[in-house]
Amino acid sequence: MKTPMIAGTALVLGALFATTSVIAKDLPKLEVKDRYKVGFAQMESNNPWRIAESKSFEDTAESCGWDLISTDAAGSAAKQVADVDSMIAQGIDVLFLPPREEKPLIPAVKKAFAAGIPTFLVDRSVDPKNAVAGKDFVAFLGSDFIQQGGIAGQWLVDNFKGDKAVIIELEGTTGSSPANDRKKGFDDVIAKQDNMTIVASQSGDFARDTGRQVMETLLQAHPDVNVVYAHNDEMAIGAIQALEIAGRKPGKDVMIVSVDGTRDALQAIIDGKMGVTVESSPFFGPLACDVMKRYAAGETIEPWVQVKDRVFTSANAKDHIAEAY
Ligand code: AHR
Repeated sequence: MKTPMIAGTALVLGALFATTSVIAKDLPKLEVKDRYKVGFAQMESNNPWRIAESKSFEDTAESCGWDLISTDAAGSAAKQVADVDSMIAQGIDVLFLPPREEKPLIPAVKKAFAAGIPTFLVDRSVDPKNAVAGKDFVAFLGSDFIQQGGIAGQWLVDNFKGDKAVIIELEGTTGSSPANDRKKGFDDVIAKQDNMTIVASQSGDFARDTGRQVMETLLQAHPDVNVVYAHNDEMAIGAIQALEIAGRKPGKDVMIVSVDGTRDALQAIIDGKMGVTVESSPFFGPLACDVMKRYAAGETIEPWVQVKDRVFTSANAKDHIAEAY
């Protein structure tokens, strides 16, 4: 991973750490020591975002004194639960977990915590009605996905030039926090616009191929589409492929609005095929290290260590593509 983006993420840390703390009771203790057995239970490795996130943990391991145990659940929440189980059995000191979906991972989170393992949710969260920070896990480290969807929606409102926006929405993995929240953030903005309608909203599972296939099908039902909102860049790129195969001109007769900030998305913006991607940083390693060390030192960790995101458009995509993933 290129250094500038890691440095950029690190710059944000000071501001993040200034946010309000809550007093939590009976959290597992973590002693200060030179080396920690750390579990990172990744959900899948089928897109650049996931690969960048895993690499960020690997790249941080040595400098943070982690003996890292990493797993890959290959897109299965059941396997991710089993991976956490295995990590508990191996006696990890700390768990970092991006839960693939909001509900199925809750028992695993609670089990790790009950076993006395400080557990941090990374990038995705669990259903807040059934598990909360400070009680069932220490904290959630991640972006505000509702805000990301809202920014994408507002960008569309500010930049759409036609009379009526006919929007296809490609949702992320069903039951995942980014899919739920990015949908809410975007749909709430669009619901207030008289000239904008979401004519179809369907899951593409955050994957390029699935996004392309879903877009091909939806395009047949809605040939008048002139906006695609994808919950991540991989599906946006899949949608661009489907549109081009159908003879459409993404960026010209169909606006593409997305989330993440991958290299391919920034290139698509530079090429004039995509309008905007709202950043969702995968570089969690340095942040996880800092939070773990603060926790071991006895600091109270805020329940949501929020990552601040940028917005990439034709105005700045060129400036950031070299550091993208
Ligand atoms: O949880 C974050 C989302 O998961 C990213 O937007 C997506 O690309 C990834 O798979």
